[in-house]
Amino acid sequence: MTTVRTVADLRAALAPERAAGRRIGLVPTMGALHDGHAALIRAAAAECDVVVVSVFVNPRQFEDAGDLAAYPRDEVRDAELARNAGADLMFIPNLDEVYPTGFATSVRVTGVSETLEGAARGPVHFDGVATVVTKLFTMTGPDAAYFGRKDAQQVVVVRRLVTDLNLPVEIRAIDTVREPDGLALSSRNVRLTANDRSRALVLRRALQAVRTAYESNARDPEEAREAGMIPLREQGIEPEYLALVDPDTLQPVASMAERPVLVAVAAKVGDVRLIDNELLS
Ligand code: PAF
Repeated sequence: MTTVRTVADLRAALAPERAAGRRIGLVPTMGALHDGHAALIRAAAAECDVVVVSVFVNPRQFEDAGDLAAYPRDEVRDAELARNAGADLMFIPNLDEVYPTGFATSVRVTGVSETLEGAARGPVHFDGVATVVTKLFTMTGPDAAYFGRKDAQQVVVVRRLVTDLNLPVEIRAIDTVREPDGLALSSRNVRLTANDRSRALVLRRALQAVRTAYESNARDPEEAREAGMIPLREQGIEPEYLALVDPDTLQPVASMAERPVLVAVAAKVGDVRLIDNELLS
């Protein structure tokens, strides 16, 4: 596995692969790689001839400077995990390479970016994601790009952007990887205290309570949502949102007849903001 840090070197490395007709897969990441990223890289390696893993902690998608500063970084560990999972090339640009002096362009996806995470974190988040993902696609020129289903809204936003801008890249969504006790893997989990690590399991329990209610006794989506609020309240956790939405439009579901339904939750557990979701089909 080779590491490149400039767009020129990335393109030089990929040009012969592209000329030979090889399929290029991109796994965009912000580093602090874990088994969830390994699953994306393995999926890319199974479907592509060349796998590029980008590592760039994108300041434009953090609305909170403290969150950006606390984001874990470990390049040596990341390289080892990426190599073991099947990456061929790591692209680790610095800030100037991605946002040169005078950078003045922003990509905004309206509609699907405005609910859930967009409403909770403000427009900065998905503007930053859409801008950097567009740049990573134009820098790399991948045939396919791999994203985790844990960030379900991000997948919807990226699919919208690819359709709207006619970008020739297939978006592949890969299932969330969980700890044996059900906690969704996240780069932020390392910041949980031991006590908060066990409290964090309530996110999954809330999603499961919504599922049980939706599939059995609830009369309307709001009643199913309320069932999910019970375990959260028991842990003293007030979520930023717990919502039942259409998985494509991300608008709230209005009736129990709707399927599939995406149940999405975001909450701060201690100092750490976590998200999770479950698809009811
Ligand atoms: O999901 C992430 O890690 C980031 O949002 C992404 C897609 C790498 C863009 O910075």
